[in-house]
Amino acid sequence: MAVTLIVGLQWGDEGKGKITDLLAGEMDYVVRYQGGHNAGHTVMIGDETFALQLIPSGVFYPHIVPVIANGVVVDPKVLLEEIDALETRGISTKNLLISGNAHLIMPYHHELDRVTERYLGKNKLGTTKRGIGPAYSDKASRVGLRVQDMADEKIFKQKLEVVLKEKNAILTKVYNRLALDFDSIYHQYIKVYAPRIIPLMANTVELLHNAVKENKNILLEGAQATYLDLDHGTYPYVTSSNPTAGGALTGTGLGPRDLTKIIGVAKAYVTRVGAGPFPTEIEGDLAELLTQRGREFGTNTGRRRRVGWLDLVMLKHAIELNSVDEVALTKLDVLDVLEFINVCVGYEIDGKAVSHVPYHQSELHRAKPIYQEFSGWRCDLSGVTKLEEFPKATKIFVDFLEQYLGVPVCLAGVGPRRSQIIDLAS
Ligand code: GDP
Ligand code: IMO
Ligand code: MG
Repeated sequence: MAVTLIVGLQWGDEGKGKITDLLAGEMDYVVRYQGGHNAGHTVMIGDETFALQLIPSGVFYPHIVPVIANGVVVDPKVLLEEIDALETRGISTKNLLISGNAHLIMPYHHELDRVTERYLGKNKLGTTKRGIGPAYSDKASRVGLRVQDMADEKIFKQKLEVVLKEKNAILTKVYNRLALDFDSIYHQYIKVYAPRIIPLMANTVELLHNAVKENKNILLEGAQATYLDLDHGTYPYVTSSNPTAGGALTGTGLGPRDLTKIIGVAKAYVTRVGAGPFPTEIEGDLAELLTQRGREFGTNTGRRRRVGWLDLVMLKHAIELNSVDEVALTKLDVLDVLEFINVCVGYEIDGKAVSHVPYHQSELHRAKPIYQEFSGWRCDLSGVTKLEEFPKATKIFVDFLEQYLGVPVCLAGVGPRRSQIIDLAS
């Protein structure tokens, strides 16, 4: 039996989809435990590229049961569109299961996400405007609607009446927007979505515990990442869930001792979408080069990602926060053309050198990176298939990361394709 967790160690888009797809061949279940359709996980199969938002990245293997667990927030419209798009491309979604306890994203969540961002003006967070924050807020406020509520028209109606009254008051009186229509929301969710969603509903807690007892292999696929975590990220520039390892437990109902391996995914440099501190951010020609070579544009929002050097101080802290056993290092090939490569090994804050992530957020905003410089390898890694074929400079770079981080780099990505990943562990 093995329960493997895949968690992002930076600000998202590290390549979690690709690593999940790679490991999914040996799995029985692939489970999304938090987030919603703010995620965009890319999987390349042959020449085809798939960008998944809600459906776990194991869906491409017919033997896998993809599970959307209780910690996820589900927009049924998006989910059904994603199912239909995959089916149209010949990918079966017939094994997909959804927790009845997963919360629903409702039209007023989308609307509130948009208007609150607009009202924040220059202080906006740069959210994906997918209704994620408002949906998790309602969950915490105990006024959320859940997947299971769609199975009972009466309950759904009662709950929607209460909550829509309050949301419409906020939309009209605070934000000067139009009220949303009860009947059309009710009709969409109960008459259009429920007949297709309810048959997929399952007690996923029981399902996963039974799978553990039956020695099945389970992969927990994190969305977002450590520094977007509501508790451990760069608050308030975070998402509204817990992508870190603890979130994988609350988000599925598995216990801490069920986890057998934790793989952290990190890019060989760093990207971030949206606002918030980013000590190693770079601009100018070098940034443009990384953006273009790494195709650093949002998987489903299309937004340009900010880019910067690899921050080992933050990465080491992320490894501690998640009890990471092994790191999967992606996008090494993006650095192929560089003469030198910087990695951040400390910060200068108010004239003092520090080697840890500052506890006070304002210090992180002022932190100036202290870099260690490495020679670039200046050759094409995209065709490399094993460790022995790495140039010396790449080996020196990866060895240094392992030494600094105190955990092995088990996988190294040299391109977006399924085959372009090197197993360093063997
Ligand atoms: P996720 O959200 O963590 O699943 O990552 P995204 O899919 O949003 O972004 C990662 C991007 O990098 C995708 O376009 C992947 O196809 C691509 N990618 C993943 N691994 C590698 C790699 O090793 N090299 C290159 N060049 N691209 C990669
Ligand atoms: P994957 O799973 C990168 C960012 C948004 C914004 C902040 C809050 O593909 O790695 P939200 O809509 O969640 O309230 O936005 O979080 N963000 C992501 N950035 N990758 C993601 O997912 C993200 N999901 C949310 O850009 O800064
Ligand atoms: Mg992504």
